[in-house]
Amino acid sequence: MPIKQRAPRNRTLTLSAEDLRKLQRKATPVPTKKLSLSNLKNRLFLGDLLQVLPHLPDASIDLLFIDPPYNLTKTYGSLKFQSRSEQDYETWFRSWFQPLIAKLKPTASVYICCDWKTSVVVQKVLSESLVIRNRITWEREKGRGSLNNWKNCSEDIWYATQSETDFTFNVDQVKLKRKVIAPYKENGQPKDWTSGKSGNFRLTHPSNLWTDISIPFWSMPENTDHPTQKPEKLLAKLILASSKPGDLVFDPFMGSGTTAVVARKLARSFCGVEINPEYHAWAQKRLELCETSPKIQGYSDGVFWERNSTPDAAD
Ligand SMILES: C[S@@+](CC[C@H](N)C(=O)[O-])C[C@H]1O[C@@H](n2cnc3c(N)ncnc32)[C@H](O)[C@@H]1O
Repeated sequence: MPIKQRAPRNRTLTLSAEDLRKLQRKATPVPTKKLSLSNLKNRLFLGDLLQVLPHLPDASIDLLFIDPPYNLTKTYGSLKFQSRSEQDYETWFRSWFQPLIAKLKPTASVYICCDWKTSVVVQKVLSESLVIRNRITWEREKGRGSLNNWKNCSEDIWYATQSETDFTFNVDQVKLKRKVIAPYKENGQPKDWTSGKSGNFRLTHPSNLWTDISIPFWSMPENTDHPTQKPEKLLAKLILASSKPGDLVFDPFMGSGTTAVVARKLARSFCGVEINPEYHAWAQKRLELCETSPKIQGYSDGVFWERNSTPDAAD
């Protein structure tokens, strides 16, 4: 396929046919025997999740992030996911979700992305085997307008754990740096806020309403041509909150590799599965690029910045 011509400021990842061939030769194929935890770490499998699952060791995953095809008709390269009845979607969902449960450590956390329609199924299936702790709503801004309905520009992210009491949640690592609208002073001193070059800011506790994350767009270095790529900032929040350095983060529908890339940037181990060879190659390339660009847009100096308020927003 010829390389797409891009506008000069367009930073979307582009690979030549030769790059693609080289990366595809390096892809890890579907295993043929049961793997140990050590040979799972930092592997990206190219193949069908249902074929990889039986070979994964039990009780090995610390953090499971799932961004499956939603119940919409959508084309992922040569794979067309067909919208179906709620019952059929649930059956498909269970076919891989139930085997995945056995792969979780007793202290594991799970996040599942979905839209408002799929959310009903996800909540139902999740509540049967895990402790549901919250539902995050991510305002992703972009969405296709409609003449006879509300524009769909939010997604749900269900959060659950294996254990009622024993799980990781590092609240101090996921605080949000917000502009202070009415800076209040006590005895002439700022109350819980600081003044800096770019204004007055306060660190606030993270809520389940996320309005500070844009979807990747063409001028961002993390962007690829994947049709439903998640932003690195979104994964950074989940990984920092719900895992520790060295933990294993698993993504069964890896796409362009966002989870693996952010896990590496945050010193976690990762493992992912993707069926599409081109997306898999993008993921590998993004991992190579981490070595020279370890930055996560919107996250710097150990804090998450409100949308458009970060000093690096123009990067
Ligand atoms: C919603 S996308 C994930 C996007 C990803 N979070 C990212 O940031 O790029 C779902 C992905 O699952 C892949 N997929 C669909 N069915 C699969 C299967 N049976 N096994 C492995 N991957 C599959 C699709 O090719 C697609 O890339």
